[in-house]
Amino acid sequence: MSDKKHSPSSTKSKSSFLAKFSAFTDKFAYPLRASHYVELLNPLWAGHALKAKVVKVWDETKDARTLTLKPGFNWRNYRAGQHIRIGVALDGVQYTRTYTISSPPERNDGLFTITVKAIADGRISHHLVRKIKVGSFLAIGLPQGDFYLPDSRPVKPLFITAGSGITPAMSMLESMLAKDRMRDTVHIHYAPHEFDAIFGERLKKIASEHSLYDLNQVFTHEYGEHKQTKGYFHAEQLEKLCPDWRERETYACGPQPLIEAMEKHYTLENMTRYLHIERFSAQLAVIPKEAVGGTVSFSKSGIDALADASTALLRVAEDAGMNPPHGCRMGICHSCSTTLLSGCVRDLRTGKLINDVGSKVQTCVCAAAGDCELDL
Ligand code: FES
Repeated sequence: MSDKKHSPSSTKSKSSFLAKFSAFTDKFAYPLRASHYVELLNPLWAGHALKAKVVKVWDETKDARTLTLKPGFNWRNYRAGQHIRIGVALDGVQYTRTYTISSPPERNDGLFTITVKAIADGRISHHLVRKIKVGSFLAIGLPQGDFYLPDSRPVKPLFITAGSGITPAMSMLESMLAKDRMRDTVHIHYAPHEFDAIFGERLKKIASEHSLYDLNQVFTHEYGEHKQTKGYFHAEQLEKLCPDWRERETYACGPQPLIEAMEKHYTLENMTRYLHIERFSAQLAVIPKEAVGGTVSFSKSGIDALADASTALLRVAEDAGMNPPHGCRMGICHSCSTTLLSGCVRDLRTGKLINDVGSKVQTCVCAAAGDCELDL
């Protein structure tokens, strides 16, 4: 965030001047835009695509890393808890993933951070955690999402997070500290061990300095064979760690089993309106045992690929060497939508079959249900 203050009218007239100037210069750059040439000088100056430069990498744990990013000109500030899309080009293919911003919006050096955990089979997370170098550029999207604390009314937050689900809570906590407005906050955070708790030391430091912040770290693997019943989220544990949880707004972020257990409990207790959830991935239905995949024909690309009944068509296309459009990969943004030309697919969130020719198919949350043809 810049310390300089600009009046709205001066900002408006400046952007209108820049828009006119770039429209003028574009005439000389046809068929490209002037911005494409500017990008060659400095990718952060490009007007047609938002990029960020990696200015620092910091290993939080053995498999989680914080990247400090300097965004390009068209960046806008964000709210603590929001996420962005990150684009990574690997072997000539552009992949997109969504990561929550882990730094507070109040930071005044114009930089922000994302904290990425390398997940099994996660080619992009592995690249960001193990291979990305300072000085690299990444395509980024603008901040999005409604997982943040309201300004309009005071709430007593209960954060329930696990693994890299800590990132939005970290941004919110740091934001409260930066504004010198720590609220009465309870935090239950799950990690396998103390040594692989992301931001573990930072959380302990905040707890030691702020009596309003009540930190409860649960190291699930310390429960050995009882970790499922004693380590992971359950009703009794919630009552013990946060007896007044019914008087709080709960902000939860973590893997699907945690979110499912919480949704079940809050539904039983008729408390779902106080539960705010940020998911890592789409909530999926159970696929029938007899479900079968088939051959997926990508008509525009002229590629056929075999697919099982549970692998998202987006992944099938990428594994076949294609670079289909996508964004969130969890059924929210519709960037991946294409048209069903023939055959049948299954929406993995609902389990429902889609077989009307001409229907829209979100490839990130649909799988083959027999042979099918897509307009890709
Ligand atoms: S990538 Fe966002 S809905 Fe599929």
